[in-house]
Amino acid sequence: MTVGQQRAWEHSWPRLGRKVAELPSGPLDIAGWFGRSAPVLLEIGSGMGETTAQLAAAEPEVNYLAVEVYEAGLGQLMLRAEKLALDNLRLLHGDAVLLLSHHIERDTLSGVRIFFPDPWPKKRHHKRRLVQPEFIALVASRLAPGGMLHLATDWADYAEQMLTVCSAEPLLRNRFPDWAPRPGWRPVTKFEQRANEEGRVSRDLIFERLSSR
Ligand SMILES: C[S@@+](CC[C@H](N)C(=O)[O-])C[C@H]1O[C@@H](n2cnc3c(N)ncnc32)[C@H](O)[C@@H]1O
Repeated sequence: MTVGQQRAWEHSWPRLGRKVAELPSGPLDIAGWFGRSAPVLLEIGSGMGETTAQLAAAEPEVNYLAVEVYEAGLGQLMLRAEKLALDNLRLLHGDAVLLLSHHIERDTLSGVRIFFPDPWPKKRHHKRRLVQPEFIALVASRLAPGGMLHLATDWADYAEQMLTVCSAEPLLRNRFPDWAPRPGWRPVTKFEQRANEEGRVSRDLIFERLSSR
């Protein structure tokens, strides 16, 4: 971690963050933590927080949660949050699967975002990819009816995997015939910039949570 990221952990973590492994058992009191009831958006794997900070700033009406396992990334995101004086962003350090399984109630999230998850490009590593049927079923169950799951990736075969997995989940409906048009509000990150330079096309996918089980 850089000195700045370390300082952000010391200074901002007590106010902005919680460790998933240390959460009390049962559902997280999100409204209590934010000090208000508002639609809750969960971003999974916020990385260095480039997108997260900008989107939280652009959506002040939303309670924005980011979950990430990478400490330096969370430190960087806290630096960005301090700079932008964000008060609608909270950070969770740990595994999204544990968070969703044990601390997020069913039918509650207004949106889930998974932008550029680790691609695990080698075939023998594909099983490590986050977007798998069981994980997407878990995500779908935590979305409120009408809530949106938004994914993006610059790896063609991962985009195909996302499309297949999400299309097969009975609780989700693709809002588009296949790929969603790239939303202008999603910031171009260094990852996407590099993909563009290397000739890889980034794909967005937007699925809506259906109400019936
Ligand atoms: C390739 S990075 C993308 C970061 C960011 N979304 C972006 O677009 O720049 C993927 C991130 O997902 C995080 N991640 C992977 N599995 C996770 C999990 N189970 N729970 C939380 N974060 C996870 C990694 O630590 C990594 O920072």
